[in-house]
Amino acid sequence: MFYQLPPAGEPVTIPGDFPVSPDLGELFSPYVPSFYGSATSALAATLIAAIARVRTPSPEVLLPAYGCPALVSAVLFAGACPRLVDLERDRPWMDLNGLRSALNPNTVAVVGVDLFGIPERYRMIREIISGTGIVLVQDSAQALARPMDAHWLGDYIIFSFGRGKPVSLLHGGAVLARDDVLARALPMPPVQAPVRRGQSGIAWRARLYNLLSSAWLYWLPAGLPFLGLGATHYRPLVLIEAADPLLLEWLPANIQAHWRRGDDRQRSIHRILEELADNRFVDLPGVCAPDAAVPRLLRYPILVSDPEVRQRLFDCLGRCGLGASAMYPSSLPGVPGLERLFGGVSCAQADSFSRQIVTLPVHSRVRARDIQRMRTCFARTSSSTGNPDQRGSRVNTAS
Ligand SMILES: Cc1ncc(COP(=O)(O)O)c(C=O)c1O
Repeated sequence: MFYQLPPAGEPVTIPGDFPVSPDLGELFSPYVPSFYGSATSALAATLIAAIARVRTPSPEVLLPAYGCPALVSAVLFAGACPRLVDLERDRPWMDLNGLRSALNPNTVAVVGVDLFGIPERYRMIREIISGTGIVLVQDSAQALARPMDAHWLGDYIIFSFGRGKPVSLLHGGAVLARDDVLARALPMPPVQAPVRRGQSGIAWRARLYNLLSSAWLYWLPAGLPFLGLGATHYRPLVLIEAADPLLLEWLPANIQAHWRRGDDRQRSIHRILEELADNRFVDLPGVCAPDAAVPRLLRYPILVSDPEVRQRLFDCLGRCGLGASAMYPSSLPGVPGLERLFGGVSCAQADSFSRQIVTLPVHSRVRARDIQRMRTCFARTSSSTGNPDQRGSRVNTAS
């Protein structure tokens, strides 16, 4: 009854639990890192640099129409106008034709998002904006690929170290700049006043976070409405925050721990969907990167177009405490607080995506037994709602 997996996020690695602590610059080479108090602050700093570079009286930033409202907060703080680009049908990517037609002389930056950890199509976006001076920002808050995976493609790359992220230090963010010139253009917040709470205070908070995000205790923070876990809110950014220097000391160990984690859970979910052979469940990582290896995901995203099937799947996964999530419940124009800003903006594909999405956890707390239960939920949902493919599922439906 109390068992409830968190939908995403890894425990904080407390240095000392982990032996190697390389230099941060070395970890991100050849990109040049700068650190902030959050990814939203890091993105705002990046967009201020983009505005200074392109110089137009009415700067605009292109964003995907489905995503984290923090993107809008960063654009508005930087003094630009956010312009939404609809998604490609049933994909987590911006529609490239929509992107082409949204470009204009006021466009200073395009922000692509590695939603759930699935890489955006940066090479194609770069081709579209080549020769314009527009800055390509890769928002990788939901992914933290290794340099050797060749997924670092933006002029600037944003990482988040907030709760529920691939590397969680409870808060914090970074921008990687492609070269020194781009790095020097970033505004840095004044160094934080000495609020040094001391390593022991941070260690205490990290241990509490790790404890409360365990599957047997997560029901506690999840049930506290003021924490708003899983809720989608728009919050204006009021200042660019500096990184906490003590948390930065923990970053190398946490990044290394993340890069060493395996991807066996996402492979298992991919296999479940393959064996189920029910085309009402769209395996997004499978269709977005059918040939290439999918990088490590933050969450495993699936689209379920039939609302009844989706609800049954949620009910089953929810009863078993398997950490399924419906992500952002609407496209950005439907987020409370953003209706007026985007009034009249139509993004039919982003709306459709928001009605279909289901994500499953793939973090290190997901056990083999949980994967087995996910398999059972898929099989039960598929058979109880009539698998139209009827290709002879090989799924074991025993619980
Ligand atoms: C894609 C994306 N960008 C930016 C952010 C903002 O991150 P932070 O909470 O570190 O400001 C988030 C937060 O979830 C996100 O998902």
